[in-house]
Amino acid sequence: MLSAHISIPRLRSVGSLFLWVLLLILGIGSGETFADEPAQLVKVLVTYHSLSGNTERMAEAVAEGARSLPGAEVLLKRVGQVTAEDLFSADAVVVGSPVYWSNMSGEVKTFFDNWQFKFGVFPEFKMKNKVGAAFATGGQLSSGKEVTMLTILAAMLGNQMIVVSGGGAFGASATTEGDSPGIDNRELADAKALGRRVAEITAQFKAGSAR
Ligand SMILES: Cc1cc2nc3c(=O)[nH]c(=O)nc-3n(C[C@H](O)[C@H](O)[C@H](O)COP(=O)(O)O)c2cc1C
Repeated sequence: MLSAHISIPRLRSVGSLFLWVLLLILGIGSGETFADEPAQLVKVLVTYHSLSGNTERMAEAVAEGARSLPGAEVLLKRVGQVTAEDLFSADAVVVGSPVYWSNMSGEVKTFFDNWQFKFGVFPEFKMKNKVGAAFATGGQLSSGKEVTMLTILAAMLGNQMIVVSGGGAFGASATTEGDSPGIDNRELADAKALGRRVAEITAQFKAGSAR
């Protein structure tokens, strides 16, 4: 008889061992564990204005950084080419501008104005809770890059977006003239770091709101 050979506590431990093996098999079979949850799909729009190519190089690096996050889908476009569909389907929008007279360029300002004139974001606040970030290039070391990024972030805040920094305190930036012509590797690394951070924060926010 079974009870004659195996005690009740022993039966219980055999039972729990069986249960653990079963759970392990089910876990492996489903292909998912907590550690390797499927990557959250995030759509990042990187958009910019550039005449002589500096801001465009930074934009490409921001896009590369964002794309380095598994599950991130990145759209890289000039501000004048962005459609309503591009804007509203994005989970995050990163905007880059050259510094013109210590501020964002007219094309970038027109892009923001068009959020209302062309795309009608207000009064519903259609950009609400999307992640936003900024980058800038300027000819001189201290002649408006931070103001440019802050005015971009201000337009996003006015639209109830969630703004993040990365690369530098207000976003990624590069000095492009004088002793520091063009975009150097450190500036490119800052731009990539910004793109990556935007994608990561957006994925975390989306995962949190899905719960
Ligand atoms: C109209 C105009 C105004 C500018 N004003 C500034 C300025 O106030 N501060 C600055 O650092 N650079 C200024 N610049 C230099 C540009 O910001 C710089 O060359 C920038 O990297 C150009 O970007 P892009 O190559 O993407 O066009 C100005 C350039 C132009 C054409």
